[in-house]
Amino acid sequence: MQQIAIRHHSFGKPLEVLQLEQIAQPEPQAGEVRVRLELATINPSDYGMIGGSYGSLRELPAVAGREGVGVVEALGSGVTGLEIGTRVRFPGEDGAWQASACVAAEDLLVVPSEVPVEQAAISFINPPTAYCLLRKVVDLQAGDWVVQNAGNSAVGLSVIQMAKAFGLKTISQVRREELVEPLKAMGADHVVIEGSGWAKGIAELTAGAPVRLALNSIGGESAIDQIKALGEGGTQVTFGGMVGDKVRFPTRFLIFNDVRLTGFWWDQYGKRHGVEAVREVMTEVYAMMADGRLKLPIEKTYSFAEYKAAIEHDGQPRLGKILLQPTSPEVKHPHVNPCGE
Ligand SMILES: NC(=O)c1ccc[n+]([C@@H]2O[C@H](COP(=O)([O-])OP(=O)(O)OC[C@H]3O[C@@H](n4cnc5c(N)ncnc54)[C@H](OP(=O)(O)O)[C@@H]3O)[C@@H](O)[C@H]2O)c1
Repeated sequence: MQQIAIRHHSFGKPLEVLQLEQIAQPEPQAGEVRVRLELATINPSDYGMIGGSYGSLRELPAVAGREGVGVVEALGSGVTGLEIGTRVRFPGEDGAWQASACVAAEDLLVVPSEVPVEQAAISFINPPTAYCLLRKVVDLQAGDWVVQNAGNSAVGLSVIQMAKAFGLKTISQVRREELVEPLKAMGADHVVIEGSGWAKGIAELTAGAPVRLALNSIGGESAIDQIKALGEGGTQVTFGGMVGDKVRFPTRFLIFNDVRLTGFWWDQYGKRHGVEAVREVMTEVYAMMADGRLKLPIEKTYSFAEYKAAIEHDGQPRLGKILLQPTSPEVKHPHVNPCGE
């Protein structure tokens, strides 16, 4: 049997190297299951993998994509206690932009039935990263202030909603004025515009309380503003570098304010702490997705055949994620209002 996949035979720009291809459908070996893809996500790290700059790379030719959700459709010998049709994380190791993939049954991450499929599709990388950034880096107390850039990213929107659930206060940096109100509607305390000199007014924003944590996925001036806004002994954690430049820091803030700089990588968290620790974090994420405390917008769903349009759309100003599905989308998601209004 053949199946469709979006693959690349060399590293490079997505629109130049990706191709829609027919490849052999994998058969589950003993102890494995085959998962049929329902929806896959486009994330910035996909471009890093396709371009060859990410922290871990696949052998070429490689199926692209890292995140998706699917259902168990075939069981290998010896697999018991699992039903066909169970919704699980799509195995991302060998690429998520393909119609099906096999994985050891013991490594499956089952998605609770209360979690909507579109939310499940975007649940495996960005929300757990946001959770760990807020819960595993610094011991934050209710009422503490956190600043973040890329406030409208999937991580940023997760941070806003989770922080609200944890009683934390947020300042979110964005590049467009039109994002201020939507982010506030999701629970952001302050939304500031990049390059507006907002860091000078930090005492006013927090009523004098120190900012304890800064979340940086951008770099450049945006990251420097965060360091200026941090209180004494505050921590900046870098987990992305969207400007693609070296992170610079103003030396005086390290010396006189004792600011700490650190990093975070969700993939490494999983490798270091194991599958049970990942499941624990996902349990927290799903509890919030199930009761609506965490709801992320979807911009649009494209079929695999429309992958070029999907990638072009992903590069445009947007608030939600772009999804891919192996067949034509029956339902398009023009814009899901995360407030449910
Ligand atoms: N370390 C980890 O474990 C980990 C895990 C998950 C995500 N991440 C990182 O977190 C970041 C966000 O990921 P995501 O999937 O949540 O993003 P996303 O939803 O795809 O949104 C992309 C964000 O990046 C902003 N952006 C893009 N280019 C920019 C630039 N040159 N300057 C300033 N802002 C820029 C966009 O702002 P506009 O709307 O203004 O364009 C938007 O806020 C990425 O850097 C990603 O690699 C890291």
